Amino acid sequence: MLLVPFFSTEYANANASVEDAIRRVVRSNHFILGREVSAFEDEFAAYIGVEHCVTVASGSDALELALRALGVNRGQSVVTVANAGFYGSFAIHALGAEPLYVDVDRTTLTLSVQALEEALRLRPAAVIVTHLYGQMANMGAIADLCSAACVPLVEDCAQSHGASLGGHKAGAWGDVSCFSFYPTKNLGALGDGGCVVTRRADLALGVRALRQYGWEPKYTVVHPHGCNSRMDEIQAAVLRAKLRYLDACNAERSRIAARYAETLADLPLVLPGTGGPEHVAHLYVVQTPARDALRAHLAAVGIAAEVHYPVADHHQPAYLGTPTPLDLAVTEQACAQVLSLPCFPGMSDDAVAHVAQSVRRFFVKGG
Ligand SMILES: Cc1ncc(COP(=O)(O)O)c(C=O)c1O
Repeated sequence: MLLVPFFSTEYANANASVEDAIRRVVRSNHFILGREVSAFEDEFAAYIGVEHCVTVASGSDALELALRALGVNRGQSVVTVANAGFYGSFAIHALGAEPLYVDVDRTTLTLSVQALEEALRLRPAAVIVTHLYGQMANMGAIADLCSAACVPLVEDCAQSHGASLGGHKAGAWGDVSCFSFYPTKNLGALGDGGCVVTRRADLALGVRALRQYGWEPKYTVVHPHGCNSRMDEIQAAVLRAKLRYLDACNAERSRIAARYAETLADLPLVLPGTGGPEHVAHLYVVQTPARDALRAHLAAVGIAAEVHYPVADHHQPAYLGTPTPLDLAVTEQACAQVLSLPCFPGMSDDAVAHVAQSVRRFFVKGG
C-alpha cells in the first residue's frame, strides 16, 4: 500500500542548501541577532514589498507583539475569525483584550466583508484578518472598511507566504502583518520562527524593542510587556536559502491542487477555489458532511488527512465564557465539514493520484 503522509519536511527542504546555511552560521560563531537575521529581514521585506521586517520567535509572538505595538489594551475588543486555529485569539487574550468573533465567507472561509461591516459598528480596537489555507481574504474591501472606520488592520499571513491579490502580496495590505515560519508552512524554518512586516516605521520600532525585553537602548526598559522573542541566526540562514524556492514550491502546491480539482469536480464535495495567485494552496481543504467517514476511509488506504480546525475558537473549553454577539453560522458548519488532503512540495504524482482516486472511490462505487 502506498503510504501518503500529510506533509514531508524532507521533501520540502530537499532543494534548498540548508546544511550549507547551518555550517555558515556555526563557522561565524554568532548565533543571535547577527548578519543572517538582518539579511533575511531585508530580503523578506523586499519580497513582500514593504519597508520593514522584524523577525521574532514564532507566528504567535508576531501577532501578540503586533497588537501590543498598535497599542491595543486590556478590555478592548479585537475582531478575528473563529475558524483559524485560535492563534489570533491567543494573542488577543495575552493582552487581556477580548476577541470579537466575526463569521467567514462561505466560499473562501476567510473574514466575511458583510459581517465585518457589522462588527466595525461595535468599535473594535483592531481587526485581524487571516488568509486561511493559502487563500487571501477580500483585501480590497476589508482594507477600505477598516480605513474608513479608522481601525488598524493586522494580516495573519501564517498560511499565505507568497500569495498576492491585484499585484500586492499578502502582508502588504495591513498596517502590520504577521508570518509564521513553522516547518510545515509554505516558507518553513527548521524550528519555530515568525516575523512582523509593515510599512510603518513606528510599528517596526515598537516590535523591534518588544522582541528584546522592551529595551531601547540595550538594558533600558522603555516599553512595558517586552519579552525574549528573537529568531536565531540558524533559522534566518535556513529561511534565506528557502526563500529562493518559495515561488517554485507554491507553484508545485498549486499544480497538486489543480489536479485534485480536476479529478474531484463532479463529486458531492465543496472544493476550494484555486488557480489564481491569491491562493498558494497551503492546505487543500474540501468540505463534506461525511468528513469523518471520508477521513477514516482515507486512513484505511494509507492516506493521512487532517482537520483544520475541528473546534471553533468560541467553543474552546478554556474560553467558553467569551461573548459572541454576532452570527457564526458559516464558521460552525465549516468546523464540522472541513478536511485537508495532503498537498505539499515534493509529493509524487502517484501519491496525488492515489489520494484523488481514493476520495472518488468513497463517493462513487467503483469510481
Ligand atoms: C493562521 C495561523 N496563525 C498563526 C499561527 C501561529 O504560528 P506559530 O505556530 O509559529 O506560533 C499559525 C500556526 O500554525 C497559523 O496557522
